Amino acid sequence: MAQKLRVFAAVAMAATLAATTACSSSRDEDSSSGSSSNLIGIAMPTKSLERWNNDGAHLNDLLTKAGYTTTLQYADNKVDQQITQLQNMINQNPKVLVVASIDGTALSPVLEKAAQQKIKVIAYDRLINATPNVDYYATFDNYQVGKLQGEYIVKQLGLDAGKGPFNLEPFAGSSDDNNAKFFFSGAWDVLKPYVDSGKVVIPSGKKLASDADWKNVSIDGWSSQKAQSEMDNRINSFYTGGKKVDVVLSPNDSLALGIEQSLESKGYKVGTDWPVITGQDADLANTKNMLAGKQSMTVWKDTRTLGDQVAKMVDQIVKGSAVETNDTSSYNNGVKVVPSYLLAPVVVTKDDVKTKLVDSGFYTADKLGL
Ligand code: BGC
Repeated sequence: MAQKLRVFAAVAMAATLAATTACSSSRDEDSSSGSSSNLIGIAMPTKSLERWNNDGAHLNDLLTKAGYTTTLQYADNKVDQQITQLQNMINQNPKVLVVASIDGTALSPVLEKAAQQKIKVIAYDRLINATPNVDYYATFDNYQVGKLQGEYIVKQLGLDAGKGPFNLEPFAGSSDDNNAKFFFSGAWDVLKPYVDSGKVVIPSGKKLASDADWKNVSIDGWSSQKAQSEMDNRINSFYTGGKKVDVVLSPNDSLALGIEQSLESKGYKVGTDWPVITGQDADLANTKNMLAGKQSMTVWKDTRTLGDQVAKMVDQIVKGSAVETNDTSSYNNGVKVVPSYLLAPVVVTKDDVKTKLVDSGFYTADKLGL
């Protein structure tokens, strides 16, 4: 009887292990897998936006070359999916989790589990809020991104030379992304004085008395389609009788793309009445649009340098050496100030696509049709 039970138990255990293995390898279909001893988990928000594909691939490559085993997961912009992926990673007991969150306020319970297992957490590009269990943050200076967009608009329109009034349509990023409010504040701190003095007007009447009102113009999920229909609505309702949009504050390239499609469908033409439009990320479609005169600028964040920095931080954590940070005051996540490494974003226009994006190897000339 005892013998029979042992055989049964052994068979059941083997079946469970096989099931677990089958399960985890199907979950990890886009990653390499291996022992948990030097495993690094990388959680990215979505494959639908070009930049996150580049971010994930580059970091994965660096860590793999440095001898780490990695699991790289994309969550289709779904918060629950990202939480499940993180839980699965934690079950494999990684040394470090690198997380580009979808909703920066939704990860407290799962990160509590990571902390119980002494797994260190690096917030990648987007801060993770409302938890003590985030150890480091690496990003581009988000406020500076918005400031560069605002300053570009001021210069392009000649606002300091007293020109105006100009019709501005402001947009902000996804309301669940902590970065979006920094982008907006950076831009609005520059633009608001001109709105107050009447040199810049907002025909759609979006209420933006202060930075804190940014959610009145946010586009959820950073969706190009939603930005396009919002722009369609504003043009249909507020730009009648020959009134024209002069300038659009777009926080990033995915929104800019939708806005550009809307303008095109409403008959705006490059070289005659096409407005000034800002962006961020130097995505391929937008870079081509810049060359075609449909987007005025983008704020380029060379994701390779962010990956390089994060790979360095991972290695410092694993080796127990001091982790390099350069900002210990800006990013309070509601529970603590998270020690951060901030990189500098760079403005790119049509005129310096070649010197900045091609000469640095970010794009080949071929890819841009140059
Ligand atoms: C990133 C931007 C990106 C946006 C949409 C933000 O958190 O910082 O670079 O354009 O998300 O994915």
